[in-house]
Amino acid sequence: MPFDLEEVLASRRVERLDLHRSYLNPQLVRVLQTLGFDRTYVRGEGAYLVDDEGGRTLDFLSGFGVFALGRSHPVVKAALHQALDLDLPNLVQLDAAVLPGVLAQALVERAHPGIERVVFTNSGAESVEVAIKFARRATRRDRIVYCDHAFHGLTTGALALNGGAEFRAGFGPLLPGCDRVPFGDADALARALAPGDVAAVVIEPIQGKGVYEAPVEYWREVEALCRANGTLFVADEIQTGMGRTGRFFCHDHFGVRPDIVTLSKALSGGYVPVGAVLASARVVDSVFSSMDRAVVHSSTFSRNQLAMVAGLATLAVFDDEDIVERARVAGERLVAALAPLVERHELLAEVRGRGLMVGLEFAAPTTHGRTRFRLMELARKGMFSQLIVVPLYHRHRILTQVAADNVNIVKLLPPLIIGDEEIDTFVAALDDVLRDAGRSSALLVEVGRTMAKGTLAGRRHGRRPGAVGGTSG
Ligand SMILES: Cc1ncc(COP(=O)(O)O)c(C=O)c1O
Repeated sequence: MPFDLEEVLASRRVERLDLHRSYLNPQLVRVLQTLGFDRTYVRGEGAYLVDDEGGRTLDFLSGFGVFALGRSHPVVKAALHQALDLDLPNLVQLDAAVLPGVLAQALVERAHPGIERVVFTNSGAESVEVAIKFARRATRRDRIVYCDHAFHGLTTGALALNGGAEFRAGFGPLLPGCDRVPFGDADALARALAPGDVAAVVIEPIQGKGVYEAPVEYWREVEALCRANGTLFVADEIQTGMGRTGRFFCHDHFGVRPDIVTLSKALSGGYVPVGAVLASARVVDSVFSSMDRAVVHSSTFSRNQLAMVAGLATLAVFDDEDIVERARVAGERLVAALAPLVERHELLAEVRGRGLMVGLEFAAPTTHGRTRFRLMELARKGMFSQLIVVPLYHRHRILTQVAADNVNIVKLLPPLIIGDEEIDTFVAALDDVLRDAGRSSALLVEVGRTMAKGTLAGRRHGRRPGAVGGTSG
């Protein structure tokens, strides 16, 4: 029988949890069941996921930030259909195909002077690996400096730059010569760079794990310290780039010019794995320094045609639909609409972020509900944020994520195409959840019931309940 995608989806759908339990990651299934996050999605449309019962879930997670254009954008979809119908000669490898060149040029044109070359990759972590490798070669130095709370991916090199102990534990020894400094502390950075042996400072313009920002002056100092010490300044824009914060690159807000910029996530509209490293000719040519070294760095799929097509179509949509400006305006509206909730609900301590990368930080109330909050935190640090994320999903059909382990921060990464309707829906839903969270234990009971149901479902498969932590994106 010829392969029929629709038939596979229809006939195997009921088995999906069992398949994941048996062949992929049974612990993730436990987490999903415990939270009750086990809807069966059948379609993605713009800012919404549609499930098998026809229900629509508002997606304020966007696949960890890849769906800047929303899901199933017609222009990107049509470009991919066209690419398939053209039977493009993909991955010839020993050729110079046109599309990688056109996409590289389009990316360089969006960057500041001094960014001249592009190295394509398959993911965010691979982009960070390239940045480490190319910085070491260009400077002939080994050491890399990164920040507390940093997240640059989970391959071993990127993991060596990860500020979260929970991700690193059990995978060492990691890349030697990687030193951590506090984010936002220019004096600490000055001390780390002073010996003159640091190849690169790798840093997120806004830290994804917690949505932490440093003052603008800090960025000027980072740039100046890097220049003064012969160190390359690497801006990891994998999450913050591509318009997420209301500028195409987040570092443009700070008026700095990093030597290397890493991209991935939104670059292919969410369709095809892709990443890109933008750098000067000096950096890239230090690696590809002779004909002998022309393939000293490569990756089989990195210039694959579907990724290039999706990337070009995505950039075209960015221009045609003014996506970056829309993200800026929608972000301002979202933060402004959330501000009164900080006044109204003691539990919501702060709303922060830029564009459509927004963090909601929760804190123990000083009056009513303090014991409830404390008890949840005793059960597991950062547990309170689940009291927000779970009812947002179940009561209001909105998908959000806990920003990091051990903190009560919920991160919002909606598609950049959201409008007033989605913003109003989210703000009203959060208001409702916070009202109940502050008022009585009823919400706790509701969430507890959801988790108990999920746990029972897990037990039917012979497993005990486990802790539920932050996600990786
Ligand atoms: C700033 C940053 N760098 C790197 C990565 C790793 O990207 P990937 O998951 O594609 O490897 C992420 C992923 O969330 C990220 O946010």
